Amino acid sequence: MMTTRIANQKLRERVMSAEEAAALISNGQTIGMSGFTGSGYPKAVPQALAKRIEGEHAQGNPFRVKIWSGASTGPELDGALARADGIEFRLPYNSDPIARAKINAGEMEYFDMHLSQVAPMAWQGFLGKMDVAVVEISGITAEGKLIPSASVGNNKTWLEMADKVILEVNSWQSEYLNGMHDIYYGTALPPNRVPIPLIRPDDRIGQLHFDIDPDKVIAVVETDAPDRNAPFSPPDAVAEAIAGNILDFLEWEARRAGLPKSLLPIQSGVGNVPNAVMAGLIKAPFEQMTAFTEVIQDGMLDMIEAGTLRMASATAFSLSSDKAEYFNANAAFFRDKLILRPQEISNHPELVRRLGCIAMNGLIEADIFGSVNSTKIMGSKVQNGIGGSGDFARNGYLSIFVTPSVAKGGAISAIVPKVAHVDHIPQDVQVIVTEQGLADLRGLSPRQRADLIIEKCAHPDYRPALRDYYQRAQQSSYGKHAPVLLDEALSWHDRFVKTGTMHG
Ligand code: COA
Repeated sequence: MMTTRIANQKLRERVMSAEEAAALISNGQTIGMSGFTGSGYPKAVPQALAKRIEGEHAQGNPFRVKIWSGASTGPELDGALARADGIEFRLPYNSDPIARAKINAGEMEYFDMHLSQVAPMAWQGFLGKMDVAVVEISGITAEGKLIPSASVGNNKTWLEMADKVILEVNSWQSEYLNGMHDIYYGTALPPNRVPIPLIRPDDRIGQLHFDIDPDKVIAVVETDAPDRNAPFSPPDAVAEAIAGNILDFLEWEARRAGLPKSLLPIQSGVGNVPNAVMAGLIKAPFEQMTAFTEVIQDGMLDMIEAGTLRMASATAFSLSSDKAEYFNANAAFFRDKLILRPQEISNHPELVRRLGCIAMNGLIEADIFGSVNSTKIMGSKVQNGIGGSGDFARNGYLSIFVTPSVAKGGAISAIVPKVAHVDHIPQDVQVIVTEQGLADLRGLSPRQRADLIIEKCAHPDYRPALRDYYQRAQQSSYGKHAPVLLDEALSWHDRFVKTGTMHG
């Protein structure tokens, strides 16, 4: 029995197996899970619960639960429970393929939310009450405080809200995580809300550990299991071209606006393109940069090692498996350069606005006026969720969206006459970048934006059709401010659904 991570006597007495802990969860309950972008999620209890659910279903008994988390988790949680048909309702973010298929088949309810809003909205109460929190931690102090794991997410809130708590103490997580967290306990609902006292990305405003009422802890489960940590493929030519366009633009913008050598705190979504941007920033003429972001990716650790990035504030790690092992082996070097906070703080609109983050996020499609769809393929199939993109895009100093100009081998144009679903309105989309080029949309009218987006961002194979559509729209649109052909604007999507390509 591994007990070295559990220094508190009272909580050590609650140690049991994952199966025994899962048996304490009932049909219909709402469970607050830890986990954010594949790190710090519980691994043993959800799998044991999935087995139990399969057993109940085999006997004809109903058993489904509602799952709230920080953001995406891993196959042992969303994957296992979705496969067992055990999730009735899910929030606020999912990237698991099995859960995604269930959601898109209409078999699972899914409410995706701005990630900064999950904790405050949970407190507002309209989501209902939380029965159990299942939270991965990396240790328990002698005083009974909880040392957070590789993500903080909504754990502080779940531990406070839930009637009962199940802890997974994961000894795979580095012991050096202890000291990296900053758990802020000063949030409140209006009219009692006060300013968040964070002025610089490296300010510490909270405490190192979570508080917990030991009487609520019904089980402690010991694990030694790695995080999901999906591998990143090395940046391809398209990602490198997009990154190159962004880096040229950032250098130009820094000169134009007289920004400091350290630029402004960067926020970067996950994926190959953001990693390619990080790789490029190592060579860019910026120094002592900071990140005020949602997740820490491979590229950020590289930037720290290269000395370009001074520190990063986030709510979670999102590393490839190799990089996660590397971090664990070198955590002593990184720990004073990284701060992990609750997601309501890492993504807080007040802080993103105050610090002036440079936001870089991926998109599924953008239209010629600069509306962005980040979530719904052909307007109806959810890919992941809005995540933190809205928190940063609306409130940052600069909001950049990136995408390859085509998807599915060229059958889909990422630049369309009209997006089939809107996540980000043109006011929140200031720069769109593809491998073809970059459109700086700041200060431009819809008609000016359309010309720029078509000429700079669209793939040459789709440019003539976009020009043709837009010219006809300018002639016969009901209004000429933002010309649209109402009967044709979504015809590209319709064609794809019916024929498998947007090409006419
Ligand atoms: N139409 C249809 N499918 C499209 C598409 C389009 N216009 N654009 C992309 N896709 C598909 C891809 O083909 C791929 O599908 P596959 O997995 O079946 O191959 C999938 O969407 C993901 O696209 P990919 O090119 O791999 O992009 P990515 O990994 O960079 O992700 C988003 C792009 C938009 C899905 C991703 O950035 C996201 O989920 N964003 C919302 C949340 C967010 O921004 N979080 C960060 C905030 S901190």
